[in-house]
Amino acid sequence: MAIVSSGPQSQGRPEATPPPRRLLDPAAAEVPAEPQELVVREDSLRPKRLDDYIGQGELKQVLRIAVEATRARAEALDHVLLYGPPGLGKTTMALVLAEELGVRCRITSAPALERPRDIVGLLVNLQPHELLFIDEIHRLNRVAEELLYPAMEDYRLDLTVGKGTTARTRSLPIAPFTLVGATTRAGALSSPLRDRFGLIQRLEFYGLEDLQAIVLRAAGLLDVRLDAAAALEVARRCRGTPRIANRLLRRVRDVASVRGHAAVTAALVHEALSLHRVDGRGLDAHDRRLLTLMLEGYGGGPVGLDTLAAGLGEDPATLEAVVEPYLLQQGLLQRTPRGRLLTEAGRAHLAAAGPVAATPAAGERP
Ligand code: ADE
Repeated sequence: MAIVSSGPQSQGRPEATPPPRRLLDPAAAEVPAEPQELVVREDSLRPKRLDDYIGQGELKQVLRIAVEATRARAEALDHVLLYGPPGLGKTTMALVLAEELGVRCRITSAPALERPRDIVGLLVNLQPHELLFIDEIHRLNRVAEELLYPAMEDYRLDLTVGKGTTARTRSLPIAPFTLVGATTRAGALSSPLRDRFGLIQRLEFYGLEDLQAIVLRAAGLLDVRLDAAAALEVARRCRGTPRIANRLLRRVRDVASVRGHAAVTAALVHEALSLHRVDGRGLDAHDRRLLTLMLEGYGGGPVGLDTLAAGLGEDPATLEAVVEPYLLQQGLLQRTPRGRLLTEAGRAHLAAAGPVAATPAAGERP
């Protein structure tokens, strides 16, 4: 298995990333869905150091202290678990940590660690104090997870050699390292695994001001002239998620260049993103279809997740982990013990935006 290492000595190489299913999909694959080989897209917009990383103040404060103390002791940083919705910068933060510590970060994802030898290969090749980033860590299989326990605790691999009655366990020392685990579903982690992380930190949706600053920073790096009002319009539509903000900015840049505008204004952002059916609150046709199905199909709910997923031709887990968090955070939708409920704000948003057909229009992907 190949692993791309990123850090002071090397950078991830570019890859052909599959196009996002939706412009507003925060989880749009950073790594291929079924990776044999994991390559983090080289992204010139990623902040490289803690000082460049905008927002997530509490997280940065905690990690800054941990990094400083670790450097002073010349040890490996304690294992870090980062959790929260997709697109908020978990991978970026792992790369920033590596940069701050002056070590390499090896990047993988739990679905790529199918066979024991995948994780063993990774662990035995780690150099002292390096970071190992495992995305979607809640999807690790039991064998991989059990190999990780002594590795995390004592920097040791317990390997079974031989079969049947001749099988015996051999312990192999490995370099002191830091596991950075990332997950959108902290609750899905087993407690023995969770308990082995010294730092457990949640990433929050970003506020408008931070998003505006992220858009302005990205515009500078992309050489796009864009004023503060235009940056705020992008910020309003990106669902609290920098990954989406940067993607929207690229689409706005396309429209500006095709229309021959030297500078991007708020009006141009509105026009460019309306083309993609992204409304002023960052909802797209997909979100409005969900809210419309709740309103028109179920009188606003409560209605079960599986029922909604079936009605939209969507996977329930994706609906729950990817689509719902922002709608919940915006107060448009509520989770109740009896099912999902459309709120007054949700009804008002639909009334203002106009409902869309609850079933996908011809030619439109669900
Ligand atoms: N680009 C994406 N996320 C960012 C962040 N948190 N700070 C600065 N630039 C970013």
